[in-house]
Amino acid sequence: MSNDGVNVGRRRLLIASTSIVGAAGAVGAAVPFVGSWFPSAKAKAAGAPVKVNVGKLEPGQQMVAEWRGQPVFIVRRTEDTLKTLAGMTEVVADPESQKSVQPTYVDPQVRSIKPELLVLVGLCTHLGCAPTFRPEVAPQDLGPEWKGGYFCPCHGSRYDLAGRVYKAQPAPLNLPVPPHRYETDDVIVVGEDQEKA
Ligand code: FES
Repeated sequence: MSNDGVNVGRRRLLIASTSIVGAAGAVGAAVPFVGSWFPSAKAKAAGAPVKVNVGKLEPGQQMVAEWRGQPVFIVRRTEDTLKTLAGMTEVVADPESQKSVQPTYVDPQVRSIKPELLVLVGLCTHLGCAPTFRPEVAPQDLGPEWKGGYFCPCHGSRYDLAGRVYKAQPAPLNLPVPPHRYETDDVIVVGEDQEKA
């Protein structure tokens, strides 16, 4: 009798355990399916917009953010720089960015939403090196014609302070302007278009 009692107890325990395993197995099988319908959290984070606070960025300074694994250069340009850009039309290859990548809501010449704040993807359009920020005018190594801009250390491409490539450089196009919008006066959202604000 006592043995029967134990056996019945074991059977009940076995049945109960099997049911739990069965339920867990069903859940386990469902997860990969559901997971395959949606991008992973990592993929979402990699493509997600990035907020950058430019409140402390002084005139003439650059800060670098990261969006989709790429450097994004943000520069607060000075009044002098903006005046200089107006005189660069003959020197640069695509002065109004007709062939280059930039959103339609960006001014074609200064290449920004607000004149003073430039936002660029910091990858040379030749072979993808990161150009160096060289805002100074006529430094010894870049020569007397240099008005401030970006210099690519890999093969020497030169860009002005709107990211427009000079004529006859290895790089064919201006540095791209990524989609971006202003959430507040000081917060830029890189990766979202202005129209969606
Ligand atoms: S990668 Fe910039 S000049 Fe070649």
